[in-house]
Amino acid sequence: MQTTDHANGIMCIETTPTSPTEAKRVTTQTLQELKVAGIPIAMLTAYDYTSARLLDQAGIDVILVGDSASNVMAGHETTLPITLDQMIYHAQCTVRGVGRALVIVDLPFGSYQGNSRKALETAIQVMKETGAHGVKFEGGASVKDTILRILDAGIPVMGHLGLTPQSIYRFGTYRVRARDEDEASVLRKDAQLLEEAGAFAIVLEKIPAVLAEEVSKSLKIPTIGIGAGVGCDGQVLVTHDALGLTTDFNPRFVRRYARLDESIRSAVKQYISDVRNRDFPSEEESY
Ligand code: KIV
Repeated sequence: MQTTDHANGIMCIETTPTSPTEAKRVTTQTLQELKVAGIPIAMLTAYDYTSARLLDQAGIDVILVGDSASNVMAGHETTLPITLDQMIYHAQCTVRGVGRALVIVDLPFGSYQGNSRKALETAIQVMKETGAHGVKFEGGASVKDTILRILDAGIPVMGHLGLTPQSIYRFGTYRVRARDEDEASVLRKDAQLLEEAGAFAIVLEKIPAVLAEEVSKSLKIPTIGIGAGVGCDGQVLVTHDALGLTTDFNPRFVRRYARLDESIRSAVKQYISDVRNRDFPSEEESY
């Protein structure tokens, strides 16, 4: 990232590298600078080398190897089944495709809850085996000791509040969280606690936009929203949703920037037809 003071006095943060060697790494400090400069942070998920490379080349700030891999890569109904080894595999593939973006890995369900020592081991394993730059996990007050322990080991931590999909069976539903004052008040306190504990950013998922904006303004660290309105310091979407690879998941917060499902189906139909008609391969495509 380059910061330039232009003649008009506007600070410009260039996020598209001209060549991979010139690309300056996005760090947790960069995200802090973006928040201070009032420039929204763009984050997307990736789980493999090829997609991560494309997102990185496009200039994305943060790539999350989300446990949404459980849904979009493995076809599970929830994020609960994905294992640590599977997350590590996805993170290794992703990191190989990235030259510039900050890569954060979700700690999967069961790999950190209730035992901060075990959580530290998990986080160290993720960092050692993947080459990623930090970890994310869900929760507020209940994970405070875990955050402190992981940070003590020098590993950056991103928090995740609001709708936390690993607790879906406790919530019982994917509806908007913290609509009532009691839950909103807990969320405000948890956000404060995560900042004080040393988290470098917090994902706010599916909460009222007004609350997300209030929390974002009250914190020094950036918030990254998903279904949390435009008042967050950045936004994240699951790439498969944003690019229209998944079309059976339609919450109002998803904007589809492409319909890759249609493009892929139509390309595959064309291929089948070319094969059937002996139009492929041509003479030029043969030896
Ligand atoms: O797993 C994931 O993709 C996430 C994002 C939705 C924030 O946690």
